[in-house]
Amino acid sequence: MKIESLELREIIDSRTKPTVEAEINGEYGKAPSGASTGEHEAKCFLPENLEDTEDLLQNLEGKDLTQEEFDDRLKKLDETGDFSRIGAAGIASSFAFKQASSFEHSKKFPLPLSNIIGGGEHGGNTSIQEFLVLPVNAETFPEDLKTNTAIYQELKEKYPRKVQGMNDEGALITTMNDEKTLRALKKVPDKHDARIGLDVAASEFYEDGKYNVSSMRQKLSPEDMLDFIQKLIDQFELIYVEDPFDEEDFRMHSKLTKKNPEVMICGDDLFTTDKERLQEGIDNGSCNSLIIKPNQIGTVTEAKQTVELAKEQDYTPVISHRSGETCDPTISDLALEWETPIIKAGISDIRIAKLNRLIRLWDQTEEPKINKR
Ligand code: PGA
Ligand code: ZN
Repeated sequence: MKIESLELREIIDSRTKPTVEAEINGEYGKAPSGASTGEHEAKCFLPENLEDTEDLLQNLEGKDLTQEEFDDRLKKLDETGDFSRIGAAGIASSFAFKQASSFEHSKKFPLPLSNIIGGGEHGGNTSIQEFLVLPVNAETFPEDLKTNTAIYQELKEKYPRKVQGMNDEGALITTMNDEKTLRALKKVPDKHDARIGLDVAASEFYEDGKYNVSSMRQKLSPEDMLDFIQKLIDQFELIYVEDPFDEEDFRMHSKLTKKNPEVMICGDDLFTTDKERLQEGIDNGSCNSLIIKPNQIGTVTEAKQTVELAKEQDYTPVISHRSGETCDPTISDLALEWETPIIKAGISDIRIAKLNRLIRLWDQTEEPKINKR
């Protein structure tokens, strides 16, 4: 695609923090940002002088490039390998270029994995960052979403005195601790044909070799943490567990994966959408699933390469939003193009931009379309 025009502007995100919108040939890409970011992520900050960054990227105007060539040029102009120079302008531009070119939408729709109750770095009283639900029996994408919204609403109504509001990701904040929250949650999805998942985001409460789980009287060693997570998997029939251990601990992730081949054990901070870190996971048997957040690795092209490696190795890719979001719908389109079986994109607030994009695509797609399992 020929780049006729490229502009950058400062906008605000769901946390009211500044971020970058890129406009390429009249189409837009906006940069999200994390709160519980992985150590190995590409940098995603508002560049100090956005006009200088815009001048730098405008060197690409007039060029006729593929997505791969464009993303490669972005990296070369940045010169640091991890967007330490152009920050959020990197992913915003990569998304804008993708939006201005085209998507090859497949007919396989992802299942929505929705963060219903939250805590950890996103705000809330639990150590576990996200209590998620995944619909297992609905037949269409809109029905899947209705399952998740019904659970969200029922919890709000059932526990009015324990629900204190919403956190960074629009998830409910409760007064309950980790296990009490799981017990309360367990009663609801069963009747809606949904299963429970967790994003433990364990790196956030790992210090000096121990896990500081707020509902436990003492800090847990990695082996104790393994027992704790295993107990939760068994007791609450978890279908999905993300980042149950520290982001450098491939070995413990491997132990848990071997014990639970039927459960999706997913690496987010562990892999940071980086195909080299994923390869390390494959070599160690760590996890059988991974989070795909394009801004973790920096560009659409690199995220796609990681999805391809994951699929080759039977790792389930879960495309995901960030806790700091905008109304950019790109990951919803990418979920269809890359056929990721699951999308993790919240359930309320600004996250509806991504969900409603998928509802529209579902409606516009001719039969036979598949609600992926
Ligand atoms: P983050 O959280 O965007 O704050 O990193 C989301 C997640 O951990 O999955
Ligand atoms: Zn995560």
